[in-house]
Amino acid sequence: MPGPAEPLTALTPTAAASPPEGVQERWAPEPLDPYAEAFQQRPHAAYAALRRTAPVHPVEGCGWWVVTTMDLVREVLRDPSTYSSLVGHRTEPPPEVRADVERLRASGIPRLPTLLSNDPPDHTRIRRLCNRAFTPRALRAMEPDVRATARALAGALPDGEVVDLVERFAVPLPVGAISRILGLGPERCDDVRRWSDAAIGALGGRLEPARWLDVEQTMLDFQQAMVVELEQRRDRPREDLLSVLASADPDHGDRLDDDVLVNLLRELLVAGNETTTRLIAESVVHTAGEPWERLAAAPEGVPLVVEETLRLLAPTQGMFRRVTRDVELGGVALPEGSVLFLSYSSANRDEAVFAQPDAFRPDRQEIRSHVSFGHGIHACIGAGLARLEARVALEELTSCVRSVTVVEPGSLRYLPSFLLRGLTSLPVRITRR
Ligand code: HEM
Repeated sequence: MPGPAEPLTALTPTAAASPPEGVQERWAPEPLDPYAEAFQQRPHAAYAALRRTAPVHPVEGCGWWVVTTMDLVREVLRDPSTYSSLVGHRTEPPPEVRADVERLRASGIPRLPTLLSNDPPDHTRIRRLCNRAFTPRALRAMEPDVRATARALAGALPDGEVVDLVERFAVPLPVGAISRILGLGPERCDDVRRWSDAAIGALGGRLEPARWLDVEQTMLDFQQAMVVELEQRRDRPREDLLSVLASADPDHGDRLDDDVLVNLLRELLVAGNETTTRLIAESVVHTAGEPWERLAAAPEGVPLVVEETLRLLAPTQGMFRRVTRDVELGGVALPEGSVLFLSYSSANRDEAVFAQPDAFRPDRQEIRSHVSFGHGIHACIGAGLARLEARVALEELTSCVRSVTVVEPGSLRYLPSFLLRGLTSLPVRITRR
């Protein structure tokens, strides 16, 4: 059995730009640092080099391995008993605020595994109860709320001025939609945004010490508010997601208790809002300019644009798994306890699956072969909602905006994270119809 691969010396860019084909030899081999600005802005060349040279590779200084090809990522995702989601990979606060953060955490509802970071049989039971809220019928019922939110936001965009489309449209749409779907009402949108920002806290990046305390306090506010809302739904159920989650499953008589539900609701905010925001913004980048009018004239092409944006962007860049027994993956021996980062971003550009993997081609055959929503038992429960939101966003935008021009496309920046990917802001000039 081959031993572990060489220490990581991926080819990482020396400047924040992808290399033209065939000039990799000019690049300096450097250890891959997932926290480095250059990598977070443009990870794709480094991942491509890893796919070619060492698709299962240890990341120096991080204590985990990165898996970069589609076949190996899928192999892991198909086998949740060997590759557990109970990873417990939580970024710890810096020493100067650690005691205060721990005090705040101890005064709230403990962090419990629900879906994302859980394994069967617990995961199976929670997923079954949660699935009731995301059936095709439930999704159809959500569409009018999503459309009303999108139409109001698109209608409020000023004609001829430069606006940040992230701030004015792509952030408030998923926040407004999930608030309505949960049954929280428009007056709670600002709270939902605050909770959502805090919930993604230090995901895949580094947080200032003072922000840590802010995040923990906001999560306590969120927990208290959710416990009150759930109590209200049990006394008097309504037609909303909180009522479905708070109630017992009519088929099994089973129901989730509040500690689990509050953790699950936090997970819906973590998993759903930021990702959908970045998907919407990126889909506008791909269609701004000349393609915009064509899309407006043929809106049946919108779902393909959404799908290809999902593949290229991979808003969730990857997820962690923990190896539960000694195993061999891609010819590399992994001892029990090894932690893997499955790069969905890299798998989505695997040249063995996608022709011209770096090109935006909504007409490609293999368009749905990406793993932007994962695969297997943890496949995204909100995929239908995310696709719905992005589709409706583009439909409403193209129907009321005649043209979109990205202002200074060269200065667009991505989030400082290796786990989440998306534009921090998107200044555009729009002309209304
Ligand atoms: C573009 C938007 C989205 C992307 C890219 C995305 C991505 C993902 C991915 C990759 C996973 C699998 C994680 C794994 O492999 O362990 C996942 C799971 C999940 N997603 Fe999404 N997601 C999106 C939108 C949403 C929305 C709108 C919701 C809900 C409102 C949501 C809720 C969840 C939940 C609860 C899980 C855990 C499922 C489980 O472990 O059984 N996501 N998502």
